[in-house]
Amino acid sequence: LSVFGTYAQYYDLLYAGKDYAKEVDYVRAFIRRYAPGASSVLELGCGTGVHASLFAEHGYAVTGIDLSGEMLARARERHPTLIAGGVLSFQQGDIRDFDLGEQFDVVIALFHVISYLPNDHDLGLTFASISKHLKPAGLFLFDYWYGPAVLADPPTHRIKTLENDEIEVTRVATPTLHPADHLVDVNYDMTIVEKSSGRLAEFSETHRMHYLFRPEIESLLVRQGLRPLEFREWLSEKEPDEKSWNGFVVAKKPS
Ligand SMILES: C[S@@+](CC[C@H](N)C(=O)[O-])C[C@H]1O[C@@H](n2cnc3c(N)ncnc32)[C@H](O)[C@@H]1O
Repeated sequence: LSVFGTYAQYYDLLYAGKDYAKEVDYVRAFIRRYAPGASSVLELGCGTGVHASLFAEHGYAVTGIDLSGEMLARARERHPTLIAGGVLSFQQGDIRDFDLGEQFDVVIALFHVISYLPNDHDLGLTFASISKHLKPAGLFLFDYWYGPAVLADPPTHRIKTLENDEIEVTRVATPTLHPADHLVDVNYDMTIVEKSSGRLAEFSETHRMHYLFRPEIESLLVRQGLRPLEFREWLSEKEPDEKSWNGFVVAKKPS
């Protein structure tokens, strides 16, 4: 079941400071290097469609899939012109088990989507679907929670407050580490205040995050006939180390 139900309403506000354009430029540099002729992109876990829309604006034909109907509703609301122009489309689906009946030049999964898969079984199903949806010589690019850094510097209790003209949202994140299973349960307690009326709403959600290690990623890729090309720290040129919470991988399907 999607944990992004109620959270979806506040998602764009919580991540208003995230530099999606810079992220898309970083990913596009790898696409230009390893698949310069690519024209179609499948985005897994596209959420509210911000990366997807930027790729579409850069000339790619983009399909986004996500489990959460609420996230997709916001994605469709945000990008009507690109959708009407036929360069962007969204479908509801589970990345562990979907079949679009077509192949793409590039598959991306950005902002920890792969770390939302809690175990080896779900990762195996997802990587198999990815391989099936990639054209020969296609690229798969994704970021993930990088295990060595999560263990060296475990997540802590954090409070984030954001507001727009209508509401103020406070999110308290309380993580619980389960090192035997390579999981972190991040509980989010959300408080929303409607400014005009002072009305208050509260809810909680737990996001189960799976931190990953390079050998298991290599083995998942190789099992599906994909060749790892790059292991990086996200948004950087260097290899990940114990300070790199976010890792990034580029893999390629043989021609
Ligand atoms: C942190 S959000 C990232 C959204 C978007 N990629 C972004 O960068 O804003 C994770 C997304 O993954 C989606 N997701 C998690 N597990 C999924 C699954 N098994 N199948 C499809 N989508 C999934 C969630 O619904 C959510 O939209």
